[in-house]
Amino acid sequence: MSALRRGKYPQVEPGAISLMHRAVAMCPSGLTVREALALVRRRHVRLLAVRDRGMFGLILPRDLIRAQALGLETRRAGDVAWRGIPAVTPGATEVTVRRHLLEGARAVLVREGRKLAGAIEPSAAALSRPALSLLPRLERQLPREMLGLLHQIGLAAESVGVRAYAVGGFVRDFLLGREAAELDIAVEGDGLALARRLASELGSRLVVHATFQTASLEGGGPVRIDVATAREERYREPGALPEVRPASLSQDLLRRDFSINAMALVLSPAGFGDLLDPLRGSADLARRRIRILHQLSFVEDPTRIFRAVRYQTRLGLTLDHNTRRALRLAADIGDYPALSGQRLTAELELVLTESAATQALLSLGRLGAFRILDQSYRFSPSAAKRVGDLGSLLRWLREHSIPLDVLALSLLALLAHLSREVAERCLKRLALAGEPLSRLTAALREAAVLARKLATQPQAPPSSRASLLRAHSLETLGGAWLAGAGRARREIEWFLAEGRATRPLLGGDDLLALGVAPGPRIGQLLDRLRDRRLDGVTATRDQELTLVRKWLLRAQASPAQPMGKASEGAWAAPSDNRPTALPAQRLGGGVGRGAKPPSEK
Ligand code: CTP
Repeated sequence: MSALRRGKYPQVEPGAISLMHRAVAMCPSGLTVREALALVRRRHVRLLAVRDRGMFGLILPRDLIRAQALGLETRRAGDVAWRGIPAVTPGATEVTVRRHLLEGARAVLVREGRKLAGAIEPSAAALSRPALSLLPRLERQLPREMLGLLHQIGLAAESVGVRAYAVGGFVRDFLLGREAAELDIAVEGDGLALARRLASELGSRLVVHATFQTASLEGGGPVRIDVATAREERYREPGALPEVRPASLSQDLLRRDFSINAMALVLSPAGFGDLLDPLRGSADLARRRIRILHQLSFVEDPTRIFRAVRYQTRLGLTLDHNTRRALRLAADIGDYPALSGQRLTAELELVLTESAATQALLSLGRLGAFRILDQSYRFSPSAAKRVGDLGSLLRWLREHSIPLDVLALSLLALLAHLSREVAERCLKRLALAGEPLSRLTAALREAAVLARKLATQPQAPPSSRASLLRAHSLETLGGAWLAGAGRARREIEWFLAEGRATRPLLGGDDLLALGVAPGPRIGQLLDRLRDRRLDGVTATRDQELTLVRKWLLRAQASPAQPMGKASEGAWAAPSDNRPTALPAQRLGGGVGRGAKPPSEK
């Protein structure tokens, strides 16, 4: 029998108590960031713990320092706490502690009864797990051209003396079995040297952004390639563009938005295909969750709020608890003078390119994200209803090939319920100006009124219904569709699909040939012909020719009348067969759905 089995040597099972340090203190609730930092310095602690509904939260001094640098020293320290921190008893086994750390806990707290006894933090070495080779999967999953490109980038990197990694969306999408639209390369060393080398090898067009040490390559390969020198970032103000400086790949991964975007694939020949995943992005992908890497991520870069929701809807992921809290904190801070309206608008436009765009807008609304536009913004049930309906409107407009400004219509859905002042402040915050701003402002003012009018107007011939709607921009019509229901919506749909596009069959040249003098009269006559066609009075060229001749004769018969109000009467005499009631019915439907009496609809 061996010594071990005879129990000769004691089994070493140190347990939590022997793994913990005591440099942790409870942070009284209500302490500000500044006060919490003072506590950290006074007590020489590495961590502060907070209580959170029977659970523990953890405040990291580095998050407090970051918060202070961003001007948030008067906010509650608890706002930057990580929640849901596991706590164990002093006798808990090392295996239990390790399991918590491997699952991504920032630390494990040790408590004796209700008292905090200490904390166990993961060492950097414990977290750097061996890299997993994705090579077999790369060979199976990637098109040959793409795989060849990755090898070529690795070799080119080696020849200029740097190390290259595929990072970000490319790795994320590869692991999800999705095709990536572009390839992001991070370079340890001179990224621009690699970009130049690649551009000349591939024959791509190269655009260099020296300030950010990045370059884009287009053409010459299966996808667009963005090359960046691995870097760390420092944000001087919430929402400002970061200052960057070259750094290692691990630091580069750490500065990113979410764990799922913070993985790297080795491209250099030694280790080609190894997945570097120090922040456990692949585990988060498997659990279908989006996790930020530090609590002030959204405050530093509020555009990440839009990014989070894009990934959520596109990839079917959910925001984890801490990420949601961090997002609310950023929305709550609200005002980001250093974040330009153009960047905000660009992010919103990116959201709108997603196939589930309205779903994403709903999520943004419910998360309070639009408070970034204005602190008084509230996402009400009526806004949610409009955003919900927006999808059908956009689909309908696309099906009918009607030019649509998705951003304008989305803004109408998002802002119509607000007071005029708040809505206009939001539009200005998005840096809208000039014509687009005035069209949207008018639409916000007029849409609901128009919707009400359409819902209640007495039955009228198509020409007069069309003339009411023709006076409004597409934005106002879209806004009225969103504000209205049943009859108002059908009127707008009829106008957009048919009424608006109806033209007379004769053209200006035909009228000139009939003897009408050049000038504004041509346009007036064409408008009148269009109205007769809308009303179903005419349906052929011959009928229009006959009608114009009749009008000309009548005008000759009363030559003394100038072309103004009086002659208008002559041009539009009832004897030109102008209908008194819905004429489309007489012509078997004429201009279609809209020509039916509204009561039939
Ligand atoms: N990134 C970031 N914070 C931002 C923007 C980008 O951390 N505000 C990082 C992320 O790691 C991201 C990478 O830069 O993966 C590349 O950004 P981008 O090309 O915008 O996103 P992709 O990851 O390629 O995702 P997609 O284009 O599919 O949205």
